[in-house]
Amino acid sequence: MRAVIVHESVYGNTGQVAAAIAEGVRQAEPTADVQCLPVAEAGPDAVEGADLLVVGGPTHMRGMTTGVSRALAARSGAPEHGGPGLRSWFHSLPDGGGSARAAAFDTRAEVKHAGAAADGIAARLTRHHYDLAAEPAGFLVEGTEGPLRAGESDRARAWGAQLARR
Ligand SMILES: Cc1cc2nc3c(=O)[nH]c(=O)nc-3n(C[C@H](O)[C@H](O)[C@H](O)COP(=O)(O)O)c2cc1C
Repeated sequence: MRAVIVHESVYGNTGQVAAAIAEGVRQAEPTADVQCLPVAEAGPDAVEGADLLVVGGPTHMRGMTTGVSRALAARSGAPEHGGPGLRSWFHSLPDGGGSARAAAFDTRAEVKHAGAAADGIAARLTRHHYDLAAEPAGFLVEGTEGPLRAGESDRARAWGAQLARR
């Protein structure tokens, strides 16, 4: 099995969740070829033909990041992340052909009306004819910059293992 985990991350928390998901996939399927790639390195060639595609990003303004939300973050001192964000990455995502499995995740703060980037990611995966192997998943960070809430890395590892076994 070939699994690719693609992630966008401003402060690094979503990247940590992606790494934990990759670890979970490897634990469940030790012979799997598993790649964990930041969005800027996940060109169409890296994704084409994957049996399992997992895509995640931070929740900004209740959804996926935008140029404006990334600029806002940068203005508050976040590491520069001018893009590409997942929204534009989806424009060059190869069609899943109805048989490739996929799953969406996000990180978010525990606030009222937090929203969920994972819902937008899942909708785009479906539009590209990927078969969703799980409900979109959200992982909590403390405040805006993180760190990840205690236990979330373990939950991400378990989620990755479940995806691999399905
Ligand atoms: C501009 C901006 C808007 C945000 N909006 C939301 C939001 O609507 N809901 C939420 O739960 N968290 C929100 N957050 C917090 C992010 O979800 C949090 O920074 C992110 O999960 C951290 O992941 P990262 O380290 O991978 O960037 C926002 C953060 C920024 C910078």
